[in-house]
Amino acid sequence: MPANVHIFDTTLRDGEQSPGATMTPDEKVRLARQLDSLGVDIIEAGFPIASPGEFETVKRIAAAVKGAQVAALCRTRAGDIDRAWDAIKDGARPRLHVFIATSDIHLEHKLGMTRAEVLDQIRFGVARCKALTDNVEFSAEDATRSDPAFLLQAFDVAIESGARVLNVPDTVGYTMPEEYTALVSAIKELIGDRDVIISAHCHDDLGLAVANSLAAIKAGARQVECCVNGIGERAGNAALEELVMALRTREDLLDCQTQVDTTKLVATSRMVADITGMTVAPNKAIIGRNAFAHESGIHQHGVLAQRETYEIMSPESVGFTNTRISLGKLSGRHALSDRLQQLGYSLDKDQLKGVFDAFKRLADRKPDILDEDLHALVGATTADGAQRFELTTIQTASGSDIVATSTVTLRVDGDPRTADGSGDGPVDAAIAAIVAASQLSSARLVEYSLAAITPGSDAQGRVHVLVDIDGAPARGQGTHTDIVVASARAFVDALNQHVGRPEAGERIRRPGAAY
Ligand code: KIV
Ligand code: ZN
Repeated sequence: MPANVHIFDTTLRDGEQSPGATMTPDEKVRLARQLDSLGVDIIEAGFPIASPGEFETVKRIAAAVKGAQVAALCRTRAGDIDRAWDAIKDGARPRLHVFIATSDIHLEHKLGMTRAEVLDQIRFGVARCKALTDNVEFSAEDATRSDPAFLLQAFDVAIESGARVLNVPDTVGYTMPEEYTALVSAIKELIGDRDVIISAHCHDDLGLAVANSLAAIKAGARQVECCVNGIGERAGNAALEELVMALRTREDLLDCQTQVDTTKLVATSRMVADITGMTVAPNKAIIGRNAFAHESGIHQHGVLAQRETYEIMSPESVGFTNTRISLGKLSGRHALSDRLQQLGYSLDKDQLKGVFDAFKRLADRKPDILDEDLHALVGATTADGAQRFELTTIQTASGSDIVATSTVTLRVDGDPRTADGSGDGPVDAAIAAIVAASQLSSARLVEYSLAAITPGSDAQGRVHVLVDIDGAPARGQGTHTDIVVASARAFVDALNQHVGRPEAGERIRRPGAAY
């Protein structure tokens, strides 16, 4: 029987530390539900001491998640630990995740502590967590650049103080597979017959996060920490979908398995990309658009004759489908709901209603609705709660010999406001009109990208934008068969993201920086 490896998803905590990937509280709760239905074992919900908004969001996630354990991050300080526990204690399966750095470089330049003081901190912090729950994980930040003898001493103190999981972060993505294997083996030996799990937490600065995590599993780690789409601080964390599929595809070699429902990987990846605005490269392993596309004639011939000639896993096994939905204008909610479930989404009633209404509107304009369209509809219409800005109508005039103009009506807190704008092309004009109607005069477009999500000239266009509002970045996305409308929606979405944050404009304090 293969051994079980726990998937610890940190998309909502380390993943959110990707530059520009800030998520609103509603988005985090929605994503947490999706991760729960994906079958991950632990969801790291956030760092509650960081801000009141972060605390409330972690609390909401702990209440919403029914299957997975929900972890909250804290430093070894009493205030951090108590705040983290308050945020998760009413959840079904809370876990405290307490950390402190152990490398000399962090001790000297960041913590200003001696090794003895760090050991005292570990003793204090882990014991305080243990007094609140048996489910305690201890992380030695920058473990891979720590003196191995001191690291083992630190882990021994953590075990004796009550930690049940020891995490070995490769915080700066520095280690190599053989080196990490040796480190994990030494920790395994230290643990001996004590009931403690080793966890790998790898960053991707040298492109080795997944390889290093697998090396740790080979050496005995039974938990891996990862993010959907490999997002995360700097170059990101180990990609969840790559780890899960490597374990499944090479079970013969690794003799390990996970409880993840792999057919929901694509849907979860789309949700993360839509929420964060961090699009997935077409050649990204497992969930990229081209991950199963065979271009050369020889490959196509081989796959047609026998799939296994060039495919080591099937597109269906990760949630890619080739089906054209046979729903049209007259189809019902039930059929749409079935299809969305087959695609890997678990939406609540209100979210389904939103997608259904959008589906009907799209069916009026586009007879052939593909699965890609449905993914886009889910991404575009499952924003929960009332939005401050709502795009009601937009009209634009543009052409080769005229100055582009646009008239936009927005509902701002429910009140209609109409404004005109002109500019260098229809998108520029539409944005000028939106800025005027919203009265957020400092809003400025910084980045813009547009992609057709299906083939054909009637395809929906999806626009992602990065908008600077009073010096704070806000991402937005919009989808429509008319690309000017898609652009206007994306810009309005960014305005809503800005005002929807717990502390509009303020970046959440990061754990490392705060110590
Ligand atoms: O990379 C890291 O060291 C971390 C810890 C806080 C676990 O994210
Ligand atoms: Zn990390």
